[in-house]
Amino acid sequence: MIEIQGNNILLSTLKTSLLLHVNEIGKVTADYYGSRLLSLDEAPALIRKYPYNQGDSITYKDENPALCLDHMKLISSTLGKGDYFMPSLILESSKGTLFDFLFESAVALSPTILEKLPSPHGAQEELVITLLEKAMQIRLELHYQLFDDSDVIACYTKIINESEEEVTIRKAASLQLPLVNHEMEVWSTYGNWTGELNIDKKPLTFGRTVIESLCGSSSNRHNPFFLLKNKDASYTQGEVYGFNLMYSSNFEHSIEMDSFQDVRVQLGISSTGFAMKLQPHENFETPFAVMNFSFEGINGMSSDMHRFVNEHVILLPFRGKDRPIAYNNWEATGFSFNATKLRSLMKKAAKLGTELFVLDDAWFSTRNDDKHGLGDWRENTKKTGGIANLAKEAKKLGMKFGIWMEPEMVNDDTPVYRDHPDWVIKDLFHQPSRGRNQFVLNLGLKEVQDFVFQSVSDTLKSGEISYLKWDYNRNITDYDNRNGIFFYQYITGLYSVLRRLTEAFPDVLFENCASGGNRFDLGMLSFFPQSWLSDDTDSYQRTLIQEGALLGYPLSVSSNHVAAKTSNQMLRLTSLDTKFDTACFGVLGYELDLGDLNSLDIKVIQSQIQYYKEHRHILQFGTVYQDTTYFDHDEKMMEATDGKTAIVAHYNKIQKPNPKESHLQVFGLQEDALYTYTTRQESIAIQKFGNLINYTTPFHVNPNGTLISILGKYIDMKSEVDQGVASGKTFAHLGPVLSQEWSGVGYDDKVRLMSDFGGRLYTVVLKTNTEA
Ligand code: GLA
Repeated sequence: MIEIQGNNILLSTLKTSLLLHVNEIGKVTADYYGSRLLSLDEAPALIRKYPYNQGDSITYKDENPALCLDHMKLISSTLGKGDYFMPSLILESSKGTLFDFLFESAVALSPTILEKLPSPHGAQEELVITLLEKAMQIRLELHYQLFDDSDVIACYTKIINESEEEVTIRKAASLQLPLVNHEMEVWSTYGNWTGELNIDKKPLTFGRTVIESLCGSSSNRHNPFFLLKNKDASYTQGEVYGFNLMYSSNFEHSIEMDSFQDVRVQLGISSTGFAMKLQPHENFETPFAVMNFSFEGINGMSSDMHRFVNEHVILLPFRGKDRPIAYNNWEATGFSFNATKLRSLMKKAAKLGTELFVLDDAWFSTRNDDKHGLGDWRENTKKTGGIANLAKEAKKLGMKFGIWMEPEMVNDDTPVYRDHPDWVIKDLFHQPSRGRNQFVLNLGLKEVQDFVFQSVSDTLKSGEISYLKWDYNRNITDYDNRNGIFFYQYITGLYSVLRRLTEAFPDVLFENCASGGNRFDLGMLSFFPQSWLSDDTDSYQRTLIQEGALLGYPLSVSSNHVAAKTSNQMLRLTSLDTKFDTACFGVLGYELDLGDLNSLDIKVIQSQIQYYKEHRHILQFGTVYQDTTYFDHDEKMMEATDGKTAIVAHYNKIQKPNPKESHLQVFGLQEDALYTYTTRQESIAIQKFGNLINYTTPFHVNPNGTLISILGKYIDMKSEVDQGVASGKTFAHLGPVLSQEWSGVGYDDKVRLMSDFGGRLYTVVLKTNTEA
């Protein structure tokens, strides 16, 4: 709801309000952002008071000596008139560098969309505040879109050059939100290949905290999502602000606390090397930034952000739609396979119950390693037996068929590289550097956009293909940024190709990948409904990655695969069930050599898939609750629920001697209703028990010997099963007591053996009236 009354403007979503105010000198401030206000009558109580000039501050205007820009909670700021925060807008023209914008109008209108950048859809309302710099003839529009169902406000800025001069934009934040410091903490994520999305927590201190990427992608170094919270807020309670940017290239977010403990949050395109020149009567639109406030802790903020992404970012027809369980051949075969191997994997994958066969890298050209073939998308029929045939076989087996591409890249043994050396990103004087032996095509060029569009369209038409994994395996170097907008042109070029492709192939499910999560952001999610978060399929590492992702992104966008027991990335051994305990939170897949499975493994996977199919919608679209960050705790709980059923995971980092009592705490249930709970029984390898096996056998068995390894293919131990009934209130308070954990002195069906890096799943279901 937008209410404009005198100098006050109140923007309200279901549970939050943002109060804007036009002050005596025509500057616009945001004096309050938090829980929803009852009425605009509260405005005077919340607007900052300026009784006198503070010490050494600069008086903006003699008539109002108390008003200094430095102390105002400005929603847009520039240099040169006494505001010493980092400005949200830096402009230059031949007339000078001082730009001083004043309020012109505030209008509510129907929601707009951006011309070149992705926009959220389905906003209820939009407010546009227009500011004018009279002397320089520049207009500034600050757009605020309201999303009631997710309590999100999405903002962008438009700069319109109404002068007859060229104006250069050096910096243009999408959003500036002033806040007051009440002992805040910043949580953001940092990462690298196979170690993405680690949660970093730090107290907000004086000066600037900057979260940014200069990689040419949003990058795995620092994801564009971050949150600010009161230091006492936890996952389950307290005040939390969440922020994100709908952009996939270099970004710059900052949280600045000045010496008066005023805080300004900024999100936007990176200003490093940025110079957008606006000719007379041209304009520039920044990407959308989004913000949320929740007083229900991190879980509250996250579930708002999840709803926003699911409802307002993801494209139809995939919005809210269940995603298939994939089998992907990458970790099984790497670059080396033939048609026989693929067919055998496909048959086995179908028997397990997977629904989509994904042929990963190396199906084309001379691609038998990572040095060849990228950019030459002609299929290698000798190796695959033909894409169309494979797709047909998948169909016969009741599966869909998908394929991998890395359309923005080239190797130098390809016709495209030889024929168009100028399409590769490079400057005039240096030899471009390789990353994973490949170069990046300059998507800023129209010819390259057409080439990429054509390559992908041709591939999608080469058989019945319903899924495409779009990879991007290196960051950008060697760019010629003399025009100051190289990265902006690259990413808007990419967006234009993605727009064309998703319009031409609306039913193809695209999966975003960039060596895992190297370009995982709201911009890419605007076109591709799901993302391969990481190349790390180790269950422990993956739990850390998923918990980082879930802070700002929903389950439905995270594609997670169960891989071989010994992780390719960490060489850590965990059971298939432990891997499932993590991978099932999101879009499940499998990625291991199915020829290596024994009959027990097959049964284990089949039962996982059956369980997942029964609860798929909750595991992909449910409300998420977490209790702690796994990185700094030994145990962690993760839950997905629709209020009637909850799937709850317990993760255990390290086995401890004589562990304390464990409880099954569950959130988001109806307080006064009864629910049943049951452990999803897991398979535990007999080898796990080492020499203890000899306590149960009539003769000595070598725990590392052949007999145990043969028996282990047919016989396993079953985990404990806890079951019972409790009310939603009891679950939320502490929850039922679970079986005693393994303490080294006996094992039976009442002992919960979690082990190092182990896990367990619990199914909690509302009791129907007839049962009650
Ligand atoms: C990247 C992806 C992997 C796989 C390989 C293929 O590393 O993240 O999943 O597709 O490329 O080369």
